[in-house]
Amino acid sequence: MSQEMFQKERTLKMRERLIGQSCRLFFPQDPVKIVRARGQYLYDENGTQYLDCISNVHHVGHCHPLVTQAASAQMELLNANARFLHDNIVHYAERLAATLPKKLCIFYFVNSGSEANDLALRLARQYTRNEDVIVLDHAYHGHLTSLIDISPYKFRKLEGQKEWRCFVFMQAPLPDTYRGLYRRDHPNPGQAYADTVKDLIDEAQRKGRKISSFFVESLPSVGGQVILPSGYFPKVAEYVRAAGGVFVADEVQTGFGRVGSHFWAFQLQGEDFCPDIVTMGKPMGNGHPLSCVVTTEEIAGAFTANGVEYFNTFGGNPVSCAIGLAVLDVMEKEDLRGNAVRVGNHLKELLKQLQAKHPIIGDVRGVGLFVGLELVKDRVTLTPATEEAALLVGRLKMKHICLSTDGPWNSVIKFKPPMCFSLEDAERVSAEISHVLRVYEQMNNSGLTQTVSACLPLAPSLISSYEG
Ligand SMILES: Cc1ncc(COP(=O)(O)O)c(C=O)c1O
Repeated sequence: MSQEMFQKERTLKMRERLIGQSCRLFFPQDPVKIVRARGQYLYDENGTQYLDCISNVHHVGHCHPLVTQAASAQMELLNANARFLHDNIVHYAERLAATLPKKLCIFYFVNSGSEANDLALRLARQYTRNEDVIVLDHAYHGHLTSLIDISPYKFRKLEGQKEWRCFVFMQAPLPDTYRGLYRRDHPNPGQAYADTVKDLIDEAQRKGRKISSFFVESLPSVGGQVILPSGYFPKVAEYVRAAGGVFVADEVQTGFGRVGSHFWAFQLQGEDFCPDIVTMGKPMGNGHPLSCVVTTEEIAGAFTANGVEYFNTFGGNPVSCAIGLAVLDVMEKEDLRGNAVRVGNHLKELLKQLQAKHPIIGDVRGVGLFVGLELVKDRVTLTPATEEAALLVGRLKMKHICLSTDGPWNSVIKFKPPMCFSLEDAERVSAEISHVLRVYEQMNNSGLTQTVSACLPLAPSLISSYEG
């Protein structure tokens, strides 16, 4: 039977008492208590509907009936340790293989993006026999010790507290063509940013170090919804492989058709480009913990050859795989990739129209339903409008729209809604953004912005930035 439903205040107090305070809530000043959800809509304890622009995990829509039915049917029949022979895991691996380049054909099922990335590190090290890792500045790859160590987004906050370098890693500049080292006016930013990776490799080699992997999100999301310049991945892969390393694409946020035109975001870098290892997670199980690493026969072979069994109690169990299969079915049946293209393009177009009217919008970028709106105080200096971004997110929440910020200064409004997000939803969000910015500009012109901030007590440290 279901538990007694607590008043929101009581839930909050219990949470404060019982749950680690580093586990933060969305909208920490006034959290939303969600009790049910459907599609792209969340409902609080009073039945108020919120439009969800945050939940990339609930990929085919919250509580999709085909997914919940597949889960409960398999749950009633059998859920067993993945060491028993079962059809679901092989069916699912075969369906995933059909979305990937042929070379990527050996699967390991795990339970979270962090587990997937940790295993990818092990695979890369075992295969190359090298240790060092190159990541992008501001990257996040997971919460395990091994991954905090390669996640500048997190470890920077530990500076001075922890000796994190159990192995050597290097940070390459974020290939952000809006505000990075090489911008849109550069004749070949893809090559120029790839050369920064080459410089790091050369430096490592001069010190007698060897590269095991270049570890990268196919589109840097916590870095601020960055769209990588063309040619970057193939060139980096060439440099990294020549140095004896492998290319790992973290598709935990970007995979499963979020970019619309392709199933995997790394495919935006060219049909011929193929990473050596791909990790996936979040959207895979529509909220059920399901993640995976896929790699080549050679890399998997080297991992097998170490003689140590890879055993994962829950990874690839029949229920998880039934859910994964149902997610793929819904994506096809409802043409959710096509929807991501149509709605994503419409959303970007609407946001670009707003950009023409509101100087605070410095940049609008994205592919499919992976979209970012970057706010700046000044379009020339590109000073990040961090407080204004928090203000906007806070105001939209009052209008029952859930959004978050990300990027090095939390100045990028991040859109990553369930893939069933509609044209009407896009229009509603853009109209509300326009309204908030108009009011903000009017108050700014009359020197009243302090008053607006006071109405929305959002300390910058509590701004809603989440790696999810
Ligand atoms: C790019 C990326 N990689 C890995 C992870 C870790 O995934 P999980 O939280 O499932 O362990 C995240 C989570 O936010 C992520 O955004």
